[in-house]
Amino acid sequence: MSRYEVQRPRRARVALPEAAAAALVALAALALVWQAFMRVGVTVDGARRTVTVGMAVADLLASGLSEARPGDLVALDGTVLLPGGGGRPLAEVDGAPAPPGHRLRGGERVRLIDGADVTERVISAERPIPIPVSVTGTGPLVRLASTGAVGVEAVRLGELSGQVVASETLQPAVPMTVVRVTPPPTGGKLVALTFDDGPWPESTERILDILAKEKVPATFFVVGKRVAKQPGLVRRMVREGHLVANHTEDHRVLTLADRNTVRRQIRQGANSIKAVTGKWPRWFRPPGGYLDPVVLDEARKANERLVLWSVDPQDWRRPRWKKLAAQVIEETEPGGVVLLHDGGGDRTATVKALLRIVPRLKRKGYRFVTLDELEAAERRAAAGEG
Ligand code: NI
Repeated sequence: MSRYEVQRPRRARVALPEAAAAALVALAALALVWQAFMRVGVTVDGARRTVTVGMAVADLLASGLSEARPGDLVALDGTVLLPGGGGRPLAEVDGAPAPPGHRLRGGERVRLIDGADVTERVISAERPIPIPVSVTGTGPLVRLASTGAVGVEAVRLGELSGQVVASETLQPAVPMTVVRVTPPPTGGKLVALTFDDGPWPESTERILDILAKEKVPATFFVVGKRVAKQPGLVRRMVREGHLVANHTEDHRVLTLADRNTVRRQIRQGANSIKAVTGKWPRWFRPPGGYLDPVVLDEARKANERLVLWSVDPQDWRRPRWKKLAAQVIEETEPGGVVLLHDGGGDRTATVKALLRIVPRLKRKGYRFVTLDELEAAERRAAAGEG
């Protein structure tokens, strides 16, 4: 290479390509602008449409030029979990499948097909089988004969819906056995009157008046939040020799509640009573008599004894008072627990019936006791002292 060649001025040599490059850039820009504004005709789902040349097939949906919709995310039973959560719509251009990014040049026939539904995943899991409760007997006192055991099952279920498609028991649950005991007759014919759902204005007072006049004790299963409203009535119960017992804080059906709620309902109910009487109640009756292992367990942990009933005339249905009285008098047996209500609604029939029930049962030789006394009599009988 000669010195001249090295020293040849470069400007003249590069001037031409730079101009050409600038021209090319300008042309390209022009082409882009041209393309951006150039409109072409296509057929979308059978309708003539005008689109910008180079538009992607997927953009037909975003621009509202096609009514095809995405599929849904569905549960195993077909119910929609998430609308539009399934597959994207599929495109066909001139009869052949096309990807969403396929660009249109004009003249094509485009068909967009609704996206397919996507079904949730199926997963495998092991889960506990709850303990069933087996209740035997019809007596009022509730004894736990065996606690039972949780079982295990293998299930195939929908990941999102929890719908079970198949299950297999790996270990069966063992039922909890509850025995309803009738205290045996000892030292005479005993009967315990119980009144639920109070304290209640008017009716609780009238029932206390009757019990005072007849000089018979009873057990009142009070609702905690009502105790706070009428503490005077609850103090009167204690003063006049009645037993105050727990019927939860706000009369929830406990078998429909989770364990924490069951625990709170039992303990708050007991606390509301203790706040007024100074004593933690010994007896607990679940609203409606609904029992399951959680209710039994939480009552036991709260140091509460469970009791149901042996005579239930369903006075809350407001039968005629004569019919109500006759049923209680007829069905009462020694060691019985009679379920009546002083609260929860109009108790006129219950009050009237009580005026007949007490003297008639006395005449039949019954002695009225609280649940504490009934239980003590049963213990003495069991120990052979009866
Ligand atoms: Ni109740």
